[in-house]
Amino acid sequence: TQPLRLGIAGLGTVGAGVVKIARRHADLIAARAGRVVVVTAVSARDRSRDRGMPLGDYAWEDDPAALAARKDVDVLVELIGGDAGPAKSAVEAALRAGKDVVTANKAMLALHGAELAALAEANGAALRYEAAVAGAIPVVKVLSESFAANETSRVMGVMNGTCNYILTRMEGAGLPYEEVFEEASALGYLEADPTLDVGGIDAAHKLALLSALAFGTPPAFDAVEIEGIERVSIQDIRFAADLGFRIKLLGVAQVTGRGLEQRMSPCLVPANSPLGQLEGATNMTVLEGDAAGQIVLRGAGAGEGPTASAVWSDVMDIARGLRVPAFGRPVDQLRVIPPAQSAAP
Ligand code: HSE
Repeated sequence: TQPLRLGIAGLGTVGAGVVKIARRHADLIAARAGRVVVVTAVSARDRSRDRGMPLGDYAWEDDPAALAARKDVDVLVELIGGDAGPAKSAVEAALRAGKDVVTANKAMLALHGAELAALAEANGAALRYEAAVAGAIPVVKVLSESFAANETSRVMGVMNGTCNYILTRMEGAGLPYEEVFEEASALGYLEADPTLDVGGIDAAHKLALLSALAFGTPPAFDAVEIEGIERVSIQDIRFAADLGFRIKLLGVAQVTGRGLEQRMSPCLVPANSPLGQLEGATNMTVLEGDAAGQIVLRGAGAGEGPTASAVWSDVMDIARGLRVPAFGRPVDQLRVIPPAQSAAP
């Protein structure tokens, strides 16, 4: 068997983490995949930055689309981010050339996933994105593989670790939102544009993807009703606690009599439930299948190791020859309810 050759576009925290795993676990990966998997080429905006490892072994491309087109790249690993621009161009270039793509880009898929999945399918390429949703938690795998013969009734969870950190820290330390926001910022938890986190948008991107997987509708970010945590006060949290509840930025996608409803908003959850006990910068997803029953998955939703681990789980599947459709397949026509009409869960 020929080695599988990766081109890594984007050498930020996650990209560097992916390369580190390739170096540290080359033997383990080859043994488990049944073939050698190598990084052949990379691209990043800043070539000179110290990433804590030698990068001289890899071919370097300035343009990610050129990286995707290289003859010695079989799989594009897109870790640039941004819903359009160079990330999307590189992904399109790879798919058009029939190359498999692994990406952590939730915004791109939430907004353009249907179009990219169609392009992948037309060219016989795989489009995989375990790292785009809830970091190390294998939620895409569970919905697309483990739940393959289930009818899913509901998908919900805490999908933004930063918001969960802010909410649990407000409660634990009795600090106001603004103060904890500054703290999260100093810890480097917030996205470059913090409204993506605290406005619920980042988490809504992820919910749109899980919803598409579970219910077979194209990802429909515009259909997610979104409310962030900016207006949650310490009083709200205290009142909730007095009644035995905690406030979580909770995403819920479920099929009701009216159709598919998707909502990301601060919700009261019982303090003694798995979701209610989730502390700090952590994620949890709760999946309900008609045969499997309820599954609760908890883990790190961000960071170098956890996100790189999820990227590698997709790479390993590709190396082993596993083919899975990008999103769920529609069984019945399901009406996707637009935001204004969604009822509270
Ligand atoms: N800002 C995100 C979070 C990072 O806090 O969960 C992972 O998408």
